[in-house]
Amino acid sequence: MTKPTAEQLAEAKRLIVAIEAKRHQVTNLKALITAAGFSVAANEDERCAAVNFDLEPNKLAGAMELFRRTDPTTRQAIPQSYYFLLSAMLESLVPGGRPKKVDFDHLHPGARPYLLGPYLNLTVGKTFPRLCFERSNPQRGRLTYVVTGGPVDVQLWRQHLPAVNEWFDGDWSIEKHTATTISLIRRKPLPDIIPFNPKWLRDGDLFLGIDVETRKPFYVPINEMTHTLVCGTTGMGKSNGLHVLLRSFLHNIDQFDHVHLVCGKGGVAFRRYTGIHPKVSTYSEPEDLWHLAADLVRTMKARNAKMVERGEDNTYSGYIALVIDEFGAFNLCDNPDRKSDEFKSHQAFMTAMMHLGKRGRSAGIRLILTTQEPTERDISTGIKSVLPSALAYRLPLTQHATSVFGELSELPDDVRRMQLGLALYADSISAELAVIKFPILCSEQTTDDP
Ligand SMILES: Nc1ncnc2c1ncn2[C@@H]1O[C@H](COP(=O)(O)OP(=O)(O)O)[C@@H](O)[C@H]1O
Ligand SMILES: [Mg+2]
Repeated sequence: MTKPTAEQLAEAKRLIVAIEAKRHQVTNLKALITAAGFSVAANEDERCAAVNFDLEPNKLAGAMELFRRTDPTTRQAIPQSYYFLLSAMLESLVPGGRPKKVDFDHLHPGARPYLLGPYLNLTVGKTFPRLCFERSNPQRGRLTYVVTGGPVDVQLWRQHLPAVNEWFDGDWSIEKHTATTISLIRRKPLPDIIPFNPKWLRDGDLFLGIDVETRKPFYVPINEMTHTLVCGTTGMGKSNGLHVLLRSFLHNIDQFDHVHLVCGKGGVAFRRYTGIHPKVSTYSEPEDLWHLAADLVRTMKARNAKMVERGEDNTYSGYIALVIDEFGAFNLCDNPDRKSDEFKSHQAFMTAMMHLGKRGRSAGIRLILTTQEPTERDISTGIKSVLPSALAYRLPLTQHATSVFGELSELPDDVRRMQLGLALYADSISAELAVIKFPILCSEQTTDDP
């Protein structure tokens, strides 16, 4: 074997050093790769921990904010994890298991909008509505839900609003809806006192107040007006409501033949209307009311006869309104002696009221009666049954509330807890239901504006 030359030795040394260096580099790179791998896993763990909503539903609070500012991978994971929780709450993802339960009462307020569907048990085609991440802003009071299982049932959502308000602690209403989405909006609370604004009065319509859901003036067209029972505990705003209604009567007085105002409290309520207009009369004595009711029955019969004769509907020239505040004062006869004249007159009055209730509408006669309690003491069942519309202020007793509305759970507000000046309007003919906040009318504001 020949001896390597000095150059060859030097070359070999150089190669060995280079190989060592490469080996070192490889080790370093391996270490770096391992370190990077750990870091990815740690990030992944962190991400999982931030969005493991099924283990910790409270983490949904702030999910929307996280969704907006996080990296693309986490952004994808957030709704996925949320949908996973929603489906786990509907049915178990393990065969034979139970759906996941969430303690709604103790759920973080910020997490509640996400689980509204399960809270209300509002399933559509076996899915819960989901809060839309792109179109919602819980902090600004805007929540859009996407309903994937079928069409949005707006009526059902409306019925749930009282429960929504209670759980979210706010005043929410439906802002808009499409076939598959529904948007809720948090309204600023209406002021306790809304002063009456004459600009709300409109030709051909009766203005009641502000619709709490739409925040717009609420109207009933005069030609759709039906006999109405106004009821509610004393001091909740019935008489004020009548004054507001009377402003529309006065504004539209050309459509009326006459407006009869009867007050069961000795005339206090309507004193301010005495002499206000030739078509407006006020009464407070029971005997006057007995005569008035009999007169109205005669008018009704004459109008009905004329219609039959001419074969036409509505031959009358104008409406006749009979408004009785505190009907309870006239409901029972003071004298229980059936043979007394007083008793007989009262009996005739009650019969006349029934006639007017049953057949007055086609003759243009409208009854508006207020009572405190919708009970036999304040208004006989017979008379109550001929008044298809109700304007109910607070009725604290469930029994009273159900006697007017039947099923309470389907109403847009709980009539047992309604605040002063708020009333639930239900028109059984048009099936309209609305919660109305009445403006307040001071005693000097009775006449129409010049
Ligand atoms: N819409 C309203 N907004 C604010 N306060 C009202 C409203 N309606 C009535 N009030 C207040 O409540 C009091 C009682 O109202 P009233 O109409 O006489 O009730 P009711 O006839 O049901 O006994 C009024 O004197 C008024 O101060
Ligand atoms: Mg009153």
